[in-house]
Amino acid sequence: MHKDIFDKIIVFFEGIRQQTGEYLYFEEMPKQYEAVPVPPTTKTGSQTSKEPQESIIIMEEKKTEEIRQPIQLSASPILLDEKVLPDWDRAKSLDELYNKIKDCQKCPLGMTRTKFVFGEGNPNADIMVIGEAPGADEDMQGRPFVGRAGQLLTKILESVGFERKDVFIGNINKCRPPGNRVPAKNEVEACEPFLLKQIELIRPKFILALGLTAANTLLKSNYKMGDIRGKLFDYNGIQTLVTYHPAALLRNPSWKKPVWEDMKLLRKLYDESIEKSKKE
Ligand code: URA
Repeated sequence: MHKDIFDKIIVFFEGIRQQTGEYLYFEEMPKQYEAVPVPPTTKTGSQTSKEPQESIIIMEEKKTEEIRQPIQLSASPILLDEKVLPDWDRAKSLDELYNKIKDCQKCPLGMTRTKFVFGEGNPNADIMVIGEAPGADEDMQGRPFVGRAGQLLTKILESVGFERKDVFIGNINKCRPPGNRVPAKNEVEACEPFLLKQIELIRPKFILALGLTAANTLLKSNYKMGDIRGKLFDYNGIQTLVTYHPAALLRNPSWKKPVWEDMKLLRKLYDESIEKSKKE
């Protein structure tokens, strides 16, 4: 409950930050707005003119050349330390990669997450399932797809004979966006390279993208679900299928049928690939 309120406050201030600039987040006041002594004012009546008092301060814009320099927003000090080891992209295994990126602070979600959700499953999986970003349950547990949508995903996989442990389950973003909002562009851009590295290490034969954030991020596109589900895409040599996100199914059960068809297609393609590799 308290966390929800906290998340809403974060979203509110993030909105303000995006409109007004970054200085709300400076640990120190930017020089431009430094506190300066107030010159005395001469008042009538019982008040008398006084010498400047160092103890009385207000925020006043200084007028010197040096101080009028614009604040360098691009060198934002919001994130003082990215906490990602510089050689993360040379990791040779998922465990090594996890240890190099788990403290990531590359985007603002690093400040609001409870746990970093790396993803889990078979490190040699033939199928990678990719969702959008952790929700509240995933954020608490540090595991992907463990909430209501996750339980539905488990059933969807099982309906065509796959178990969670057979596949690798991950997300575009590794940290929960406050209030479960869609991850922002800068958050996706900060996190996507980690997913690409996971794909490189796992080398799956198939990717199942759940929902449009996953699909359009991977395919660098702006498709609508109706245009892409049930079709096969080549993503860097990996056969990629797109279907509805299980959270969308919870809201709209009429999408169960198309998901069922997509899953049967995935199963068929998977079985064919196994047969083919047996013959080789
Ligand atoms: N939704 C997602 O996209 N990913 C999760 O891990 C959980 C819910």
